[in-house]
Amino acid sequence: MIWIKLTGYGDPDFATYLRRSFAKSMGYSSAMLRRPIIGIATSASGFNNCHRLTPQLVEAVKRGIIAGGGLPMEFPTISLGEVFLHPTSMMFRNLMSMDVEEMIRAQPMSAVVLIGGCDKTVPAQIMGALSAGLPAIQLVAGPMMTGRYHAERLGACTDCRKYWARYRAAETSDAEIAEVEDNLAVTAGTCAVMGTASTMACIAETLGLSLPGSAAAPAVHADRLRHGEATGMQAVRLAESGTLPTQIVTRESIENAIRALIAIGGSTNGVIHLAAIAGRVGINISLRDLNALSESTPVLVNLKPIGQYYMEDFHAAGGMPALLRELKPLLNLNCCTVTGETLGEQLAPPGKFVDRNVIHSADHPIRRSGGLLALFGNIAPNGALLKCAAADERLSEHVGRAVVFKDLNDLAARIDDPGLEVSPASELVLQNAGSVAAGMPEAGYLPIPAKLARAGVKDMVRISDARMSGTAFGTIILHVSPESAKGGPLGLIRTGDEIRLSVRERRIDAMVSEQDLENRRRETRPVRGAARGYAKLYADSVLGPEFGCDFDFLRKDSVRTER
Ligand code: FES
Repeated sequence: MIWIKLTGYGDPDFATYLRRSFAKSMGYSSAMLRRPIIGIATSASGFNNCHRLTPQLVEAVKRGIIAGGGLPMEFPTISLGEVFLHPTSMMFRNLMSMDVEEMIRAQPMSAVVLIGGCDKTVPAQIMGALSAGLPAIQLVAGPMMTGRYHAERLGACTDCRKYWARYRAAETSDAEIAEVEDNLAVTAGTCAVMGTASTMACIAETLGLSLPGSAAAPAVHADRLRHGEATGMQAVRLAESGTLPTQIVTRESIENAIRALIAIGGSTNGVIHLAAIAGRVGINISLRDLNALSESTPVLVNLKPIGQYYMEDFHAAGGMPALLRELKPLLNLNCCTVTGETLGEQLAPPGKFVDRNVIHSADHPIRRSGGLLALFGNIAPNGALLKCAAADERLSEHVGRAVVFKDLNDLAARIDDPGLEVSPASELVLQNAGSVAAGMPEAGYLPIPAKLARAGVKDMVRISDARMSGTAFGTIILHVSPESAKGGPLGLIRTGDEIRLSVRERRIDAMVSEQDLENRRRETRPVRGAARGYAKLYADSVLGPEFGCDFDFLRKDSVRTER
């Protein structure tokens, strides 16, 4: 119905007449204009390789909408191509969420299909749709297929990191790294491993915001287009039922999503995005709740970066329906979904074939519990994260001498300095890489100093207020909060301090007295945020990672947050 949400001319009849006339200029008949309009929010861009096949997907969705009795109307929003954005895509997730929210709210539609995929696009679309308050269904781009380098399968971007580390350690030549570069990302779609994009696709499906089985179908697989058609049809039914995403995203479905995130060995970024999604419906996820869920949730999916396989294997192995069946005793099964069924109803029929090499049974998990943990301590009073499933167990109880880099430039300038005083037992600390200081880039995966890498060192304790790519691995403590630029104690650490990591106690502490920290605090000058434009809005309004780095004014009113 093209005449809902009229343009404000002060004369609704005129506004209706004018809009109908302009809509007819696009060739629509009166009969089509009487159908419920289903918006299709797209985020294709020449700067987003992951979304390259969006046009095909849009055609499939349109086919489903028309078959279902609706009228599809595609509209663009900004796009966030992970590797094409400076300083980091994270800074623009909230901007995209505002774009999605406002365009859903402003334009005449009864429901919306959200087509995204690359890391920040799916959380941005979900956040925007939750705040817009219209029926919505998520459709993801789907993962890339793997490439080949000689006899080895390659997938972005765990293998990118593996080969780059080898190159830094002088184990791979210039010619070899160039050949690898040509074969890392060989099709359209999102990164081929369980990185942030795949994690968010799995989270969207677990939350009940996308169709069962749709998270893992590769971008180039016919299943992807079939999911597109079915998504379009379901969007029309959602418009008729009026089911809102705020009825689907509840504390219970968020708990399910956290369990799924742990079970898939998912990205640490998923914790931030889920906290932001929860905040849009007035729910706070505490990091202590995360620990409680982690202690009773097994890791079951054997995908890179924590395991062996790729997303195309996960799809063939049974995908999210197979995984959720394994987790069934732990899940809240009454949660409602976009299909109109509860999660329990969706999982009731017996599952089909499951490849147990890829999706382990709950009786034979990859790890029984604790795959993802929050740490607290005098370095991180508001918490920090460690993906234990991707870390070296031998470093989980560790005391080491800090080697501190005061910001990203300092890191780049000195990490490979042959004179850097560092040993394999040192702990690398990066300051001023949080939201206000730097937009919270994925710089938490600090490179192993070249001289140690060449000596065969593969992992070290690394601590920062930055994030890490979901495709990365190592003993990496991230999201330290409060961030150093906001006066967080991480900014008070000095080279030579001893730092104690205890995964068993869930703690990260500097062995420095409170008095010494206080003295250092008095000598520290605050870091200034940007002076104008969106960067200023971001620095002025962004919340800590425990609140998902959302803007304070975008969370649901009922949530009170301390910045
Ligand atoms: Fe888009 Fe990895 S670059 S998902």
